[in-house]
Amino acid sequence: MRIDFSIQNLQIQVLLVAVSLFACSFALKIGETCSSNSVCDSGLTCQTCPVSGNTRPRCARIQPLNPTSKVKGLAFNKYSWLTTHNSYARAGAKSSTGSIVISPRNQDDSVTDQLKNGVRGLMLDMYDFNNDIWLCHSTGGKCFNFTAFQPAINVLKEIQSFLESNPAEIVTIFIEDYVTSTQGLSKVFNASGLNKYWFPLSSMPKSGEDWPTVDDMVKENQRLVVFTSKKDKEASEGIAYQWKYVVESQYGDEGMVAGSCPNRDESPPLNTKTISLILQNYFPTNPNLTKACLDNSAPLTKIMNTCYEASGKRWPNFIAVDFYKLSDGGGAPEAIDQANGHLTCGCDNIAYCKENAKFGTCDVPSIAPPPPAALETSTSENPSNAGYMDRRPVLQWLFGTFLASTLVLW
Ligand SMILES: *[C@@H]1O[C@H](CO)[C@@H](O)[C@H](O)[C@H]1NC(C)=O
Ligand SMILES: *[C@@H]1O[C@H](CO)[C@@H](O)[C@H](O)[C@H]1NC(C)=O
Ligand SMILES: *[C@@H]1O[C@H](CO)[C@@H](O)[C@H](O)[C@H]1NC(C)=O
Repeated sequence: MRIDFSIQNLQIQVLLVAVSLFACSFALKIGETCSSNSVCDSGLTCQTCPVSGNTRPRCARIQPLNPTSKVKGLAFNKYSWLTTHNSYARAGAKSSTGSIVISPRNQDDSVTDQLKNGVRGLMLDMYDFNNDIWLCHSTGGKCFNFTAFQPAINVLKEIQSFLESNPAEIVTIFIEDYVTSTQGLSKVFNASGLNKYWFPLSSMPKSGEDWPTVDDMVKENQRLVVFTSKKDKEASEGIAYQWKYVVESQYGDEGMVAGSCPNRDESPPLNTKTISLILQNYFPTNPNLTKACLDNSAPLTKIMNTCYEASGKRWPNFIAVDFYKLSDGGGAPEAIDQANGHLTCGCDNIAYCKENAKFGTCDVPSIAPPPPAALETSTSENPSNAGYMDRRPVLQWLFGTFLASTLVLW
């Protein structure tokens, strides 16, 4: 009797273990039908994209793979970083003045959440306002209560706290600069505590050389790269004038014409080889919440290939989009993964790179149609996985399925 009881007990225990593993195994993969965000695997959310005919809620990616996860220690300009356009213009946000904001919205989460999801480039519009520097989306270079979002220091402090808790991460800020007050930017950066991470102007390559390696930037703790749109700030404040170091494609509707990739007016031509960083924009003049999921999908990867040719066969280092989390499956994170595959290992996707293998050694999954990244088993060796997808649940799934079938047979 006693023996029977403990066997039964054991059976129950095994059953419980199997059930809990099996529950984990239900984390849904990219493209699978979902009911809520929580049932999707990490790095995915549950969304539809009716504008592309996709009305079935499916798990879609919101995080790229860590650019440095496969091939480490390359020059900063040998990686591609997910960038948000008007990162601060968050849906639903009210102005800190208490006024309603009539400015359009380009993102739907906070800068902190963007950084958590692997965004590493931020576009911030800065203005003199209320005796301070504000993030504002205005016209005529002047900020008003109804176009002002919040004091810039708030968001700079979010970035500071991210850099502090993620000592291997590098963040780039592109300032659309309307600040005319003396030392206005320097003061607000000083006050935010970001100064100690500043990547110095003097170390930026001026004639098309490679940037320092990401390892060096991390070691030197020079992990904040800042560009301004105002030329004279280089001399007056030591802040890099963007288009001396970065070529940039046209923004807005004009930058969304399939098959063409012109530079924006302020930027030298994209194929200027004396400039080592390439910023590719892909968002409409007026942000479009319903269409963003389509824009961020196939058309984005298509234009990336067009821009690659226009840039003298160079892949973008920054890809800037609206509503970076919206897609029809892979979205902007997938585009970043593709760029990083080409840049770091010579493969079509970073998911196909073999860790520190010879350039061009690819591990393309043979199962079709592959949710590319999901076939990879683990990226967890890298200590700095902050904000990047982690694929361990695939193993849990295999294990859970195995146990479950054992139980059925038993
Ligand atoms: C703008 O907001 C401030 C509060 O931050 C308020 O004192 C001021 O009166 C407002 N100005 C206008 C024109 O509404
Ligand atoms: C910012 O800080 C640096 C060093 O910490 C200092 O040299 C500089 O004068 C400060 N600038 C302003 C405008 O406060
Ligand atoms: C957004 O895109 C959709 C689909 O192309 C279009 O019908 C709609 O008018 C656009 N909305 C705005 C505000 O531009």
